Amino acid sequence: MSKDILLWDETLFKNAEVLEIDHIPEHFAYRDNQLQAIKYSLKPVIHGMRPVNCLISGPPGTGKTTSVLKIYDEMQDHVNNVVFLKVNCQIDSTRFAVISRIYRQLTGVTPPTSGIAFRTLFENTMHHLVENNKILVLTLDDINYLFYEGHADDVMYSLLRAHEHYPGVKIGIIAVVSDTGALYQFDTKVTSVFLPEEIDFPRYEYEELQGIIDDRIKNAFYPDVIPSEVRDHIVQYVDDIGDLRIGIDLLKRAGLNAENRASRVVSIADVDKAYESSKLLHICRSIRALNSNEKTLLRLIVDNNNTQAGELYNSFHEATGQGYTHFYNMINKLHASQYIDVDFSGEGKRGRTRIIKLRSNPDDVLKCLEK
Ligand SMILES: Nc1ncnc2c1ncn2[C@@H]1O[C@H](COP(=O)(O)OP(=O)(O)OP(=O)(O)O)[C@@H](O)[C@H]1O
Ligand SMILES: [Mg+2]
Repeated sequence: MSKDILLWDETLFKNAEVLEIDHIPEHFAYRDNQLQAIKYSLKPVIHGMRPVNCLISGPPGTGKTTSVLKIYDEMQDHVNNVVFLKVNCQIDSTRFAVISRIYRQLTGVTPPTSGIAFRTLFENTMHHLVENNKILVLTLDDINYLFYEGHADDVMYSLLRAHEHYPGVKIGIIAVVSDTGALYQFDTKVTSVFLPEEIDFPRYEYEELQGIIDDRIKNAFYPDVIPSEVRDHIVQYVDDIGDLRIGIDLLKRAGLNAENRASRVVSIADVDKAYESSKLLHICRSIRALNSNEKTLLRLIVDNNNTQAGELYNSFHEATGQGYTHFYNMINKLHASQYIDVDFSGEGKRGRTRIIKLRSNPDDVLKCLEK
């Protein structure tokens, strides 16, 4: 048997764990300034003081979440009256869901999903902090998902001014914005109390991507599994898109593809095949966060691309029974999240009509909707 053939019980992965989506890499290069800035802002908690708020922003897959978690990890051992929490606003995308998650993480008790008002839950949360004499450091990760329906300002405002209603409450907020090009802005009543340290996460340079991918390859695979030209091919894909998450997913899938054809070496073709799935990572991640009516609407847009808003509304109403206000809000959300373009045409019978156009590739959107 040729030595190039992988036996059925052999693997190319030395440690597949490091290619998992939630793996926190030990070696985290090129983000020293950002890590320092976060640490510096949180430092006051060591002396029992409220931390400086932070606004972290940058494109997807540039290390924002990982940086926060690394600093949490580092500081956790040095303080005992501080709770470090992170809420993923893509999953908890209303003010009730956010406070509910905070309450659960603080107390270990899951609050009921209905029959309890936001105010009550908020009050209980604040009392818990005061009674236990805890400072709360809260990361609102991917807070852009709270903007579409106006929840971002509500959540921020309630938390940032909590100390006025609940004396003794100490909360610092790290707001993380995944900058996908959509516009967002906090209300002035929020900005006047938020006053954050602004920390930018720019896209990685080609050489930086190369360094990070190289390091991950060394940890994940046995030697010589990924030849340098294959490595470069992967880095090129990542550089085109700018999201490291896709690079790490590519490594995993390309490795599995090579294993499936019993090869000891990953080829360019393994990477290209992997890319067909990896490239959907972005879009599928955000489509997963849509609710079922929003998914129905997106599906209707895929099936009836370039349709007038009025016609689309009729189909949507027929499918879901939802009224126009809901429809209108959802169109705004899909627009803000860059799934669609809304063009005005002068051709409608009653003046200007809006034409709804899909921005992403329809096949990609369908694949994610069907997952
Ligand atoms: N400097 C780095 N060194 C090693 N790995 C990195 C580095 N930066 C990012 N990564 C890896 O890239 C992936 C994406 O990082 P992370 O989730 O922190 O991005 P993000 O900026 O929070 O993205 P999003 O805006 O989409 O939430 C993770 O798997 C992380 O381990
Ligand atoms: Mg993130």
